[in-house]
Amino acid sequence: MARVAVVTGASRGVGAAVALGLAQDGHDVVVAYRRDHDAAREVVAAIEAIGRRAVAVAASLADPDGPATIASTAIDTFGRVDTLAHCAGVACPGADVVDTPVAEFERQLAVHLYGPLRLTQALVPHLREQERSAVVFVSSAVTDHMRGLGSPYNVGKAAMEALARTLANEERYHGVRVNIVAPGLVDTELGRRFIRAAHGRDIHDLAPLLPFGSVCAPEDVAAVVRFLASEGAAHLSGVRLPVNGGDDDVSSNVAATRVALDELADGPRVGP
Ligand SMILES: NC(=O)c1ccc[n+]([C@@H]2O[C@H](COP(=O)([O-])OP(=O)(O)OC[C@H]3O[C@@H](n4cnc5c(N)ncnc54)[C@H](OP(=O)(O)O)[C@@H]3O)[C@@H](O)[C@H]2O)c1
Repeated sequence: MARVAVVTGASRGVGAAVALGLAQDGHDVVVAYRRDHDAAREVVAAIEAIGRRAVAVAASLADPDGPATIASTAIDTFGRVDTLAHCAGVACPGADVVDTPVAEFERQLAVHLYGPLRLTQALVPHLREQERSAVVFVSSAVTDHMRGLGSPYNVGKAAMEALARTLANEERYHGVRVNIVAPGLVDTELGRRFIRAAHGRDIHDLAPLLPFGSVCAPEDVAAVVRFLASEGAAHLSGVRLPVNGGDDDVSSNVAATRVALDELADGPRVGP
C-alpha cells in the first residue's frame, strides 16, 4: 500500500516541490493550499502523471477550521497518513519592532504556529498508527540571526521551531520522527518578492554573493525534506537542518545585502 503525505503550501514554491518529490518517493499526496486553485490543480496533475494519487484541498491555516478540513480530506480520501510536511508560509512587511502592529504578529503566528499546531494535533493520532512516520516543519534560517526588519516572521518561525522540537521529544516514543528544515533564500514567489521589496532587485542578482554562486531552488529544499521523510533518516529526530550553503548573511541581513550589492556593482568579490 502507498504511503500518504499531507503537504501544506503545496500549490507552489517549496511545498509544490516537496509534494512532487514525495510522490516520486512513493507517496500519494494531499496537496493543501490556500487560494491558488489553478496552481494546485497543476501540482495534482503532475503527481498523477507519475502514477500516484493526489487530492487538492483549499483551506487557510489562518482559519481555525482549516486544519480540520485538511486532516479529514486526508483520512476520507486515503485512510492513513505517513508523512506531514508543513511548508506553507507568508512573508511580512519589513519594519522595526516599534513600528509593527501587533496584528502582524498575530497574522504570522496564525500561519506559522497555530495552523501547523492544529493540523499536527489532528494528524498525530493517525501518524502514530504507522510503524514509522515523519513530520517535517519548514522554518527559516532567520531564526539563527533574528535580524531586524522582520520581527513577526522571526517570531512566527521561532514559535514553529519550539513546537517542532517539543513534539520531537514527545513523539519519538510513538514512532513519529519530527524534524526541521531551515532554508536561506529560495527562488520562489516569497523569496523573489522579498528581494524585490527589500532591494528592488531580481533575486538572481544576489547569486554572486551567495554560497556556491546561485540561489537555492525549491527542489534543493525539497530534497532535504524527502530525506527526512525517508527510511534513510530512520534514526533522525529533533534535528534542524539549515539549507543555506552554510552562510545566510547575505540573504537574511537586509542591511548587509545593501552594502554587498553596492560592492558588487564596484567590482568582483574577492575572498570571504
Ligand atoms: N522563499 C524563501 O526565500 C524562504 C526562505 C526561508 C524559508 N522559507 C519558508 O519556506 C516555506 C515555503 O515558502 P515558499 O518560498 O515556497 O513560498 P511561496 O512560494 O509564497 O508559497 C507559499 C505557499 O503557502 C501557502 N499559504 C500561504 N498562506 C497560507 C495560509 N494562510 N493557509 C494555507 N496556505 C497558505 C500558499 O498557498 P496559495 O498559493 O494558495 O496562497 C503557497 O502554497 C514557507 O514556510 C517559508 O516561510 C522560504
